[in-house]
Amino acid sequence: MTDTVLEVITKSAIKSRIEELGAQITADYAARSPILVAVLHGALPFLADLVREIDLELDIDFLALSRFGEGGRVRIAMDTLSSLEGRDVMIVEDIVDTGLTLNVLRRMIEMRDVASLATATLIDKASRRLVETPLEYRGFEVGDEFLLGYGMDWEGQFRNLSSIWTVLDLAAFSEDPAVLSRLALGDPGDRLTT
Ligand code: IMP
Repeated sequence: MTDTVLEVITKSAIKSRIEELGAQITADYAARSPILVAVLHGALPFLADLVREIDLELDIDFLALSRFGEGGRVRIAMDTLSSLEGRDVMIVEDIVDTGLTLNVLRRMIEMRDVASLATATLIDKASRRLVETPLEYRGFEVGDEFLLGYGMDWEGQFRNLSSIWTVLDLAAFSEDPAVLSRLALGDPGDRLTT
């Protein structure tokens, strides 16, 4: 036990919710063939699980964003390989917080003459929104808590955790981020001997 981090969304809760989202998307996009565009790197686990719950022909692609300046300004650092023109595009995000990133990204994609545009995010921090932006599919709505795991990172780490954790004590966690590895992945010594 620790007072530093806490598991808040289990692997099985994520799995069930993604099954529901997949069924909903399958029904909503019947007879269409959407392209799901995951925002790297955080959306990768969600994309991988979500597409396997959608019973439609679909394409996947990726883009990466980089931030600059003040006020959440972003630009596309790595673009999709496919053209999005005329396509039913679904942006796939791990988390929407203030909404600044998604708002800019949606406007950039809308300029590409897409047939339709929607967003699916696993986590929605709705109460933190600074700018309203459409969000058609959301996995879980959470409050103002810092989350890690299942795509979400701390300095590039913990994206591979199968469940989602919150940091209860940021100061203690900054001192010893490996506390989360020990809890979520087990002790490295144990892993070597098993
Ligand atoms: P927004 O532009 O404020 O909506 O947030 C965009 C980005 O902030 C997300 O794509 C994440 O990279 C990051 N972010 C926001 N909240 C969290 C969190 O709780 N854990 C990890 N990353 C987060």
